[in-house]
Amino acid sequence: MATNAYIDANNIEKHYGSGENSIAAVDSVSFQIRMGELTVLMGPSGSGKSTLLSLLGGLETVDSGRLRVGNAILSDFTSLASAKFRRANVGFLFQDAGLLDRMSIMENVALPLAYTGMAKKLRYMQARKSLESLGLGQRMDHVPGQLSGGERQRAGLARAIITKPKLISSIP
Ligand SMILES: Nc1ncnc2c1ncn2[C@@H]1O[C@H](COP(=O)(O)OP(=O)(O)OP(=O)(O)O)[C@@H](O)[C@H]1O
Ligand SMILES: [Mg+2]
Repeated sequence: MATNAYIDANNIEKHYGSGENSIAAVDSVSFQIRMGELTVLMGPSGSGKSTLLSLLGGLETVDSGRLRVGNAILSDFTSLASAKFRRANVGFLFQDAGLLDRMSIMENVALPLAYTGMAKKLRYMQARKSLESLGLGQRMDHVPGQLSGGERQRAGLARAIITKPKLISSIP
């Protein structure tokens, strides 16, 4: 179906395991999501929600069907192309914040910018702005272990959005 939606899934399937133990985690699913549209994904435990989000974020590849996100035809991608897609388009938000323990909050938040080739001074300037806007201006030089749970989550959010990704993927 021709569509100008940002996300366009057509009969996508994802199986885990093989033979008798094969599980159809995502079984011929089709939908479209427009840019900026609020979409809620609901279903019982084990129905494939996390699997579907992994496919949209380029963390897993579909077995069959067609999946497009923006200009990227993810269903045609190799793992290297998927990695490039993630780097350019997806911010990852981890349920446990997923910060690197030995790095300061500032270094953690600035890290995704390093892969864009931005100069260090600029990376730290952006990270500072982002952290200040989330009320973490006084915590930038601390390591994650010195922060409260909520502060860690906000730092994780700052890191997820620092590259201004079009898509933010939440990782359990
Ligand atoms: N890596 C894996 N290997 C094998 N089976 C898997 C794997 N990941 C998920 N599954 C199976 O695929 C199905 C869908 O799992 P998924 O995690 O997507 O469900 P979910 O809807 O996110 O569930 P929940 O609400 O409990 O988080 C489940 O039956 C699960 O056991
Ligand atoms: Mg899940």
